[in-house]
Amino acid sequence: MTASPGGSAAGVRGQHWDPNRYVRNAGFVADLGGPALELLAPCAGERILDLGCGDGRLTRRLADLGVEVVGIDSSTEQIAAARATGLDARVADGEALRFSDEFDAVFSNAALHWMRRPAAVIDGVWRALRHGGRFVGEMGGHGNVARITAALVSALDRRGLDGAAAVPWYFPTPEAYGALLRAQGFRVSSIALIPRPTPLPGEIAGWLETFAESFVRRIAPEDRADFIAEVAESLRPILSDGSGNWTADYVRLRFAAWKPAPESGPGRAGLRDA
Ligand code: BEZ
Repeated sequence: MTASPGGSAAGVRGQHWDPNRYVRNAGFVADLGGPALELLAPCAGERILDLGCGDGRLTRRLADLGVEVVGIDSSTEQIAAARATGLDARVADGEALRFSDEFDAVFSNAALHWMRRPAAVIDGVWRALRHGGRFVGEMGGHGNVARITAALVSALDRRGLDGAAAVPWYFPTPEAYGALLRAQGFRVSSIALIPRPTPLPGEIAGWLETFAESFVRRIAPEDRADFIAEVAESLRPILSDGSGNWTADYVRLRFAAWKPAPESGPGRAGLRDA
């Protein structure tokens, strides 16, 4: 699942999404979305917004359950792929949502870490939800892909570039994200960091080509293959088992929150403020 905060597919924070490349190198993202979907506990007939739906793999699972689902993503290419499967999928900026009081739930998998203005996202989610509606998501959390990030930053620094400035991601702690949710008025029923070392479908170069464009685009086109190879070699002793099997150092932040009725009171049976 992909999302980036606003703008066109052609380069939000130096990242664009090629649906074919995404399926090849990142199909596991939707495959691993099961726990977040379970936490969402969608019901047939509910109206749910999938925020950062990418090519719509999980959106389709919701639709197949009888959910009236709307998917949004900032990538025109990914939205075209989602629409081609018959989904209601729209290009939209996650930091400037325009929905009002119309969803039973907002769901997001592996997308919120591309949105560097989380308070703006949370504000839009709040407005999109009906009272009693829930916001359930999973994103990269504090420490996510820390070793990959360090290797990318170092490789840029070695070339006299500002590696830290190229980091496009927001990986909050549960405390920081929970505080933003509560500041908006959400009740937080659960929020936790979950280390999830993630086997990759191929070489780490495929992951870097798919997700690390913000770093790679700072390198002259003719030098990019060498840059990726250098980063991959620096990571090999850490993330590869020596037989060509790579595992990315993912850490998830998974949460569920709900929008209470104006006079408080639980919106959904079973949810308790954490
Ligand atoms: C993630 O899903 O955690 C992730 C994906 C791509 C880049 C960074 C993080």
